[in-house]
Amino acid sequence: MVLDECFQVSGDLCKIINNISILREQTESQSLSFGRGQQIMDKQNVPVITLDGPSASGKGTIARLVSQALGFHYLDSGALYRLVALAAMKRNTDVSDEHSMVDIARHLNVSFRDSTIWLDGEDVSNEVRAEACGEYASRIAQYPALRVELLGYQRDFRKSPGLVTDGRDMGSVIFPDATLKIYLTASEEERALRRHKQLMEKGINASIADLIQALRARDERDSSRSTSPLQQCEDACLLDTTGLSIDQVVSRVLNMYAEARKA
Ligand code: C5P
Repeated sequence: MVLDECFQVSGDLCKIINNISILREQTESQSLSFGRGQQIMDKQNVPVITLDGPSASGKGTIARLVSQALGFHYLDSGALYRLVALAAMKRNTDVSDEHSMVDIARHLNVSFRDSTIWLDGEDVSNEVRAEACGEYASRIAQYPALRVELLGYQRDFRKSPGLVTDGRDMGSVIFPDATLKIYLTASEEERALRRHKQLMEKGINASIADLIQALRARDERDSSRSTSPLQQCEDACLLDTTGLSIDQVVSRVLNMYAEARKA
């Protein structure tokens, strides 16, 4: 995810990878111990780590690194809403028509290959991350029928040896029985600075004040909608990434996961 570029990378990531390799070995040996016939574990037994939180809090970056460290699958749920919005924009479909959005989602022709995203055979990895796309995604994400349509698709990502996922309702609605639920946040100013740095690197000018306003508006809409609002659910651990580097956050999540597995 583009937020990769926004974080300050400090410290020694190798050290973290070494620490987490122990966890990975444990997961692999646990899988093997089930024997061939039992290797396809019941979905409910597949561990899930959910990262929910406001826009630009770094969820995507952290979720992907944690998934790589553990050898788990990764689901970027926001990309699904963005893809429906992008498909609607490309087809000049009115995003205020809930029924049309459900129809687009039902017939969505997408594939996730490594870190690229394809829609109808076109590489849309950059387009899907555009601010306008996020804005439209947030509008259509309010439709209950669209959320229901995407529910099963998201749950299908739960496969052995495990899943790391990020979004707004991953812990509250999609995977309520997740092994570890994290609510990832950062101060409004830091999130806007990260977004600003990311845009500047792409040669796009934006004022911090405008970015703060845009983030605030999106978070307000995401938190106040009636269906699956952005919220820190009761059993989620709060992780404030303000002032932390990527490797520090990854390390904390991995430690939290190790603790959650013991419980
Ligand atoms: O996370 P990202 O910024 O890519 O998400 C885009 C929009 O999609 C969010 O602002 C939110 O409205 C919506 N979304 C959602 N539920 C999710 C993930 C994203 O409503 N699980």
